[in-house]
Amino acid sequence: MLEVTDLHVSYGPVHAVHGVSMSATAGRITLVLGANGAGKTTSLRAITGFLRDAKGSVTINGKQILGKFPHVVVKHGLSLVPEGRKIFFPLTVEENLRVGGYTASKAHNAQMMAKIYELFPILYERRDGAAGLLSGGEQQMLAFGRALMSDPEVILMDEPSMGLAPSMVMRVMEQVRAIADSGIGVLMVEQNADAGLGIADDVVVVSRGESVWSGTAEVAQSDKAVVHAFLGESALAETPADIGAADRGETGLAEALNAAEDDASADRTN
Ligand SMILES: Nc1ncnc2c1ncn2[C@@H]1O[C@H](COP(=O)(O)OP(=O)(O)O)[C@@H](O)[C@H]1O
Ligand SMILES: [Mg+2]
Repeated sequence: MLEVTDLHVSYGPVHAVHGVSMSATAGRITLVLGANGAGKTTSLRAITGFLRDAKGSVTINGKQILGKFPHVVVKHGLSLVPEGRKIFFPLTVEENLRVGGYTASKAHNAQMMAKIYELFPILYERRDGAAGLLSGGEQQMLAFGRALMSDPEVILMDEPSMGLAPSMVMRVMEQVRAIADSGIGVLMVEQNADAGLGIADDVVVVSRGESVWSGTAEVAQSDKAVVHAFLGESALAETPADIGAADRGETGLAEALNAAEDDASADRTN
């Protein structure tokens, strides 16, 4: 239902994203992997209307939404859980949730809030307290809750596990899975490839502003050493070309990544 095709995004003269394609489907989690600075946040912000200098195609149920303002994008069923959560610390938990429902009616918001409190009972317990007093994991729940307030068809998440204790990371991933299982399409950027692959259905790898590989999480799992090498979590000396789908006669993740790196260096010399 969300289809992003050949997205290009610039910051003035800086062409940060040049050829990102990805999609999200009801009930499924698409995991977006890529090194720091690859263009993941830029892509999510352009898709949701926060970055204006964007070209390409972003459709939801066939309807073009690229170029629309964030409040209009929300009405088309897209919602963003931003990088760093962006919780309003001085506001109460409930006030933060209300921010997420700013485009909807009072009755609709009351109904959504009840659902969110059911999903995250701790938010109900803390509803009148300042959001800044919540733990990191609770703040992430609040960020999910705020994004759910608009009753989205597709929710985009930018590094939900960032800065959380390892024990919290798995809980947050379980919550992401539960959100998808409720019928919402999830497009999730996650630096913790292991945690992300544990719950994802589909995977897209972004390198230097381009999507360079996509496939099922199952195939990505078997090429996991390459994902790690690519993310700089383990030595590149593990000869990524030896690992993965090459044996199966498919285009391997390693091959795609190597090709992308070559293209990217060629771009930079232009
Ligand atoms: N506000 C900005 N102005 C100029 N360049 C930016 C800005 N934000 C990000 N960039 C650049 O765009 C590229 C992609 O950044 P980003 O989308 O944040 O990457 P990621 O989320 O994958 O780590 C990087 O080279 C980064 O330096
Ligand atoms: Mg980012």
